[in-house]
Amino acid sequence: MSRARAAIILAAGQGTRMKSALPKVLHEVGGRAMLDWSIAAASNTGAAKTIVVAGKHSPAVADHVAKVLGDGASAIQDPPLGTAHAVRAAANALAGFDGDVIILYGDAPFVPPERIEEMFAMRAAHGGLVVLGFKAADPTGYGRLMLGADGVVERIVEHKDASESERANRLCNSGVMCADAKLLFELLAQVKNENAKGEYYLTDVVALGRAAGHKTHVLIGEESDALGVNSKVELAAAEAGFQKRARIAAMEAGVTLIDPDTVFFSYDTEIAADVVIEPNVFFGKGVKVGKGARVHAFCHFEKTEIGENAEIGPFARFRPGSKLGKKTKIGNFVEVKNSVLGDGAKASHLSYIGDTDVGAGANIGAGTIVCNYDGFDKYRTTIGAEAFIGSNTALVAPVKIGDRAYTGTGSVITRDVPDGALGVARGRQTNLEGWADKNREKKRAEKAKKDQAE
Ligand code: UD1
Ligand code: CA
Repeated sequence: MSRARAAIILAAGQGTRMKSALPKVLHEVGGRAMLDWSIAAASNTGAAKTIVVAGKHSPAVADHVAKVLGDGASAIQDPPLGTAHAVRAAANALAGFDGDVIILYGDAPFVPPERIEEMFAMRAAHGGLVVLGFKAADPTGYGRLMLGADGVVERIVEHKDASESERANRLCNSGVMCADAKLLFELLAQVKNENAKGEYYLTDVVALGRAAGHKTHVLIGEESDALGVNSKVELAAAEAGFQKRARIAAMEAGVTLIDPDTVFFSYDTEIAADVVIEPNVFFGKGVKVGKGARVHAFCHFEKTEIGENAEIGPFARFRPGSKLGKKTKIGNFVEVKNSVLGDGAKASHLSYIGDTDVGAGANIGAGTIVCNYDGFDKYRTTIGAEAFIGSNTALVAPVKIGDRAYTGTGSVITRDVPDGALGVARGRQTNLEGWADKNREKKRAEKAKKDQAE
């Protein structure tokens, strides 16, 4: 990379069509805010500086940017007067920057990183400006790229300002643009708002650049590269697009998906080769699954690491903070939260395991509940290696079950159980010899008497 790079991400639009209190660019696709997809694209390309242009109407956007990129990474555009005006709002934040700038949108988060890379390369090779274009199935609403005989873009005409013949041109502007920073701000200073919308159009820099002797080249991408989100319906379409790509990527990496359309991934899901995933499984953020594991149908995961050759589900739920070792087994209707399970540990049926450290080879019987919360605080439980927790044990945290220790079925364990010991805490059983037979006889006799009397 010879020249320094920076990114400007436009995110000052109102997003009213989302009908939401949450700013549009903070809505998530694949578990990540749309804005963060664009920020990640900028950082992937090696941008030394990324400036997000936010509107005054959505302070949550600037707050989000401060958290993700640090202070000084957002610029406020107030009021929003068009895309050129928005880019200009980033000028102060980029003062002194010498290099190339890529302009991205906060609500069009799926420009492939390799496309952005190609744009920088084209700019390095040809100078001037580079825009990302695409052939639209239906070009309505998009700016049109008007090419000269030499194939360079002479100007961009917005749909509202276009003539009938210009509207027939299906080569559209994605909005993504790459330019030398100094040239870009020089051209932006000349942009006027004499057009159908009365806005300052970023797209006008193409004709202005041409007049000053700077060519604009076009990189032609896919229509899906430019996919923008304006409504919940479009958000769902963006999500569907992400899921489709994620499923294909997983299968290409060696993961078996029995019914791919019913498995949902997050942007950061990591699944190793030779994992088999049965239908109807949801991976929230921060999940890793080790090779050879099998995930049976209907499981839900968040922020959890599953070890190699583990067997999970069906109907298992993993809440944040869990780590399972190799060959662990979590069976049906088991919920695991913020717990660590050693290699080969098992909880096969109907259990809650919260804030617990489980040693290797431990077996947790059906119906075991870790009582980790007293209504105010949470406490940890430790279950030793090779321990055997009898069915229907309640483990009242904080409590420690030693290595190889047993708990008696149905026990409420409130005190530590030493290594190798048996902890039993339940009413002792008494058998009353003959009681049931005597009782039955007595009841029968009573009933017969009553029937006679009637
Ligand atoms: C823009 C392009 C058009 C292109 C289309 C691709 C211009 C003039 N037109 O049109 O050529 O085909 O995108 O989707 O650039 N924004 C601000 N501040 C503003 C105005 C917009 O930050 O004052 C942001 C919006 O939040 C949005 C992006 O810029 O992320 C694009 O704005 P929008 O109004 O949607 O532009 P279009 O009319 O769709
Ligand atoms: Ca738009």
